[in-house]
Amino acid sequence: MKNILLLFALCISFNAFSQNPLRIPTPLYGNQFNLNLVMGFTPYFGQQTMTMGANGSILGPTLFLNQGDSVTINVINGLGHETTMHWHGLHVSPENDGGPHSVIPIGETWSRTFKVMDWASTYWYHPHLHMHTDEQVTQGLAGLIIVRDSIEANLNLPRTYAVDDIPLIVQSRGFDSTNQFLVGTAADSFILVNGTMNPYIDAPSQIVRFRLLNGSSERSYNFGFSDNRNFYVIGSDGGLLTAPVSLNRLKLSPGERAEILVDFGANQGQTLYLMSYAAEFLNGIYGAAQPGMGAGQQIPGYNTNPLNGRNFNILEIRVGAATANPVSTVPSSLVTHNPWTEGTENITRTLTFRSTVTGPTAINGPFTINNQAYDMDVINYSIPLNNVEVWSLINSSPIAHPFHIHDVQFYILDINGVAPQGYDAGRKDVVNVMPMQTVRFITKFEDFSSDTMPYMYHCHLLTHEDDGMMGQFLVVNPNSGNNYDKEPNLKVNLFPNPFSDKANFQFETGTGQNLNIEIYNQLGIKVKSLQNVNEDNIALERGELKVGNYYYLIRTGEKMLHSGIFTIID
Ligand code: C2O
Ligand code: CU
Ligand code: CU
Repeated sequence: MKNILLLFALCISFNAFSQNPLRIPTPLYGNQFNLNLVMGFTPYFGQQTMTMGANGSILGPTLFLNQGDSVTINVINGLGHETTMHWHGLHVSPENDGGPHSVIPIGETWSRTFKVMDWASTYWYHPHLHMHTDEQVTQGLAGLIIVRDSIEANLNLPRTYAVDDIPLIVQSRGFDSTNQFLVGTAADSFILVNGTMNPYIDAPSQIVRFRLLNGSSERSYNFGFSDNRNFYVIGSDGGLLTAPVSLNRLKLSPGERAEILVDFGANQGQTLYLMSYAAEFLNGIYGAAQPGMGAGQQIPGYNTNPLNGRNFNILEIRVGAATANPVSTVPSSLVTHNPWTEGTENITRTLTFRSTVTGPTAINGPFTINNQAYDMDVINYSIPLNNVEVWSLINSSPIAHPFHIHDVQFYILDINGVAPQGYDAGRKDVVNVMPMQTVRFITKFEDFSSDTMPYMYHCHLLTHEDDGMMGQFLVVNPNSGNNYDKEPNLKVNLFPNPFSDKANFQFETGTGQNLNIEIYNQLGIKVKSLQNVNEDNIALERGELKVGNYYYLIRTGEKMLHSGIFTIID
């Protein structure tokens, strides 16, 4: 009996040694979506691997959204663990963004309604629970969001889902001796595409669109085909490009997406492979022969992983007959971009990535941004609504970090002073910063503001993110007034505002607690703090503060109670 069961288990498993048909995430259309987050089992190696998924045992459905629609997404947490759900790349309010502050308790439903404002592109969703993002994404929680708009709809592009428009979520995994996923491992020696091990797909002999997501915790891929053919990149993270870019290699770091067109018109009956040409990676990136730049930088277990610094197959492609009305030409142009231009920015912010450790183990971090580790109660920047900003990312550590920012799409200005080429010139929300590199981008913080609910920016190596390589910013509307009460018993009034000399802070604590007040400038630097305030009314002296907007936080101990902004005028 046991043998029969075992045999049965082997038959339905994703076999490690033979090819398996590529799983296709269920497409969901409309304005109402339910994501039922559940624990489940997924068979790998003939064994049951414990996994997490949305509406299934691993990964989640593909949500098709139309630009301009108002959509409601209900996230039902059946995991037995707290979680959050973040819509990576979508421009939504901070309350709808699903960052670490939007915890969904066990058994509860987080329901969000928002308007889709994004360009047609490929986005994704994944949990963002403080210090548990890697664990929950590795267990299987992630899915795609495909946004459509009228511009994209008017182009002659393949768009029949899973036929000539194929989603590919590429992830690496390591397994323990009982075939459970390892979290935070350097032994991630198996590639899964849409959760499928050793996948193959039947593709039609025509132009096919692949939507690539690097959903791995740490690994970068250098995508190419086994016959070294050229393909066309048509889209980056946040939209289509100006025109297709012909390439035979495309690097994607964790969190990044790209859409490509590949012409299989002359390949009927043939088999080829989507590969990662990781042997061509420069050292200093997770996936290269050496993950660090500089002698001796080692990640324990990294060098015995056969994927590192070697070329490997990702997906077997079996080319069959063409479909009835195939797309047979690549459009010569796609969409119009009007990037913000340098010189129009209100401010330049510099973010320097460093290891907190020196010497040969610096590569293992933890890493910080501007020497600060993530603190849920610290606002690193408060950004006036409608600011155009240049962010200058300096990597002073031995390993590459894919930097991601919520709320916005950005345009790269330059990489080590060189303007971006081709596919790097599109809309982005993740950019990989190699060791010793400086990347500058420009963006605008529009539409959404909150005095209290921050957006995140972080390294998208999930181990680094969980270790604190993250910060948070508010987009504040200087005209919105102070309207936040995280602690309903604490009433705060700051007046006059704006002021030039002195203002009054009035509190009704009702709690009898001592309060600490911290004041930050627009660069996120703390410029004043008032400790152990226990009166009802204190004076806020201007002192050395310059004209401008300031942000204040009121807390008791580590607990953030209230925040707000004020303006100093002459
Ligand atoms: Cu893809 Cu802050 O995350
Ligand atoms: Cu994100
Ligand atoms: Cu990093």
